[in-house]
Amino acid sequence: MLAQTERMWDAKTMVTVFGSLNVDYVFSVDELAQPGETVLANALDVLPGGKGGNQALAAAKAGADVCMIGATGQDRNGETAIEGLRDADVDLSRVKHATSLTGTAAIKVDRHGENSIAVFPGANTQASADQVPDELLHKGTTLVLQMEVPAEEIAGLIRRAIARDAKIILNFAPAAPIELNALKAVDCIIVNQTEFRAMQSLLGETSNNIDEGALSSVAHALEASIIVTLGARGLLAFHNKRALRIPALKVDAIDTVGAGDAFVGVFAAMCDTGHSFESALRYGSVAGALACTKRGAQSAAPDLDALEAAIRELL
Ligand code: RIB
Repeated sequence: MLAQTERMWDAKTMVTVFGSLNVDYVFSVDELAQPGETVLANALDVLPGGKGGNQALAAAKAGADVCMIGATGQDRNGETAIEGLRDADVDLSRVKHATSLTGTAAIKVDRHGENSIAVFPGANTQASADQVPDELLHKGTTLVLQMEVPAEEIAGLIRRAIARDAKIILNFAPAAPIELNALKAVDCIIVNQTEFRAMQSLLGETSNNIDEGALSSVAHALEASIIVTLGARGLLAFHNKRALRIPALKVDAIDTVGAGDAFVGVFAAMCDTGHSFESALRYGSVAGALACTKRGAQSAAPDLDALEAAIRELL
């Protein structure tokens, strides 16, 4: 069904993100604690996060019209989770105010920029596909999904979106069980190396490599384009029977939290605003690198001017 992957680059309108909204408690530490160890943090920041929210914000800052659909609690954190999105004019009219606590992430970032994250999903478990009306699913929709809301809701939404000819980008993060048929209906799947391996084992693939052959095999099995982000080594993609390798912009990374989300959001925004697959990859890749140069997930997402400047530098 590679023809389906062609479909996704032919229209522009709105990025619709169905996904998680969290508040991130970010502890800056010298070293990440070992099991059984306590370390004191140098700073604590309370910031909006969640893969869905981060991707929606990155897409909006890159110039797309964005609608964010998910769930927050009715606690104080519910407002914190969406304040950045509100400032960026993201449509929040379909965010549900659920009975659980707002999703919360405990994030530790060390002085090398390494991190460790634990997420309490909270209200995200109450996000449901029926919050997304049919009128937001059509040929001009770029639907962006991740795996921090219930997998059965994601699968149901994929089925509706595909029937209505929307383009679907799934960030398979964190890797979690989902119906194979739903995965096969997605146009483009974005993973990091760990998630790619999880996908390989879901498909019963025996190769442990992450190379053109392995991507081609997964892309063929899932009938989708595949993008694997490789951190400082850039990315490898397989699209339209062709492998693409994009090197990373060189930066001094201080915090990698949200770098993958910046990639996904900007890639989606660029696809939505008419860029080719390869051009969208380059913008996404630059966004991921720039996001590592600032603290926080949403606060680090670059705007369109910063993206354009970095792209010019690369040429
Ligand atoms: O990808 C980073 C995000 O993962 C954080 O903002 C955190 O909330 C978790 O969802």
